Amino acid sequence: MTQKNQYIVSNWKMNGTKKFLDEAVHAWQQSASKANWIFCPPATLISYVKDHFSGITLGGQDCSTKVSGAFTGEISAAQLADVGATYVIVGHSECRQYHHDTNADVAAKANAALKAGLTPIICIGESEETYTSGETLLFLKQQLNESLVGVQGDFLLAYEPIWAIGTGKTATLDDIKHVHSFLRDQLSVVPLLYGGSVSAENARAILAVENVDGVLVGGASLKIVDFTAILKSSKDSNEC
Ligand code: PGA
Repeated sequence: MTQKNQYIVSNWKMNGTKKFLDEAVHAWQQSASKANWIFCPPATLISYVKDHFSGITLGGQDCSTKVSGAFTGEISAAQLADVGATYVIVGHSECRQYHHDTNADVAAKANAALKAGLTPIICIGESEETYTSGETLLFLKQQLNESLVGVQGDFLLAYEPIWAIGTGKTATLDDIKHVHSFLRDQLSVVPLLYGGSVSAENARAILAVENVDGVLVGGASLKIVDFTAILKSSKDSNEC
């Protein structure tokens, strides 16, 4: 069987220090041989990983729409590239919620990333209200169209239902299959990731769903044993 190229993105959010990172990355380096592991620690740790470990693909968790200037607290895509990142997450629901990133901002960030030579990991996802009212696909179509304005270049797309993020409420495999087949119709060759309460227990089943090319992992990526299992799920699901 041909091997599927699966991406395992770990998003540490605002967690982690050098001490924990040393312990965790040593453990995970052993497991990451086949999966495309993209590690997104806080920006403060990117160059530390680059300097102390080899062969780890790194990503930022967000970037500015701007190139440089008086934007206190922001980090440009070029600065992420400068310290060793090759990917950057944009449009995460926490940035949409807490920083009020609009779809236009997300598109501008994705464009800024591509310009700086980074591959954006563009996140979309519906609220619980949209999900329960059965309007998920309609909502995602608009979010997708608006978040991709001007985007020309390679990117990854992560479908992350907001109600599944950090809640322990994963979307059902049927839901994931349904949404991913819709997304595949829109984007024939873009790697499609699922995110939202991915765990050591459910990763293997999610990675086996049609049109799922990887997972974006938050909480479980801070647990050494659990994330080792997730990396291994991906490896195992490639071996048939
Ligand atoms: P979670 O987070 O795995 O903790 O639900 C996913 C994410 O925020 O990308």
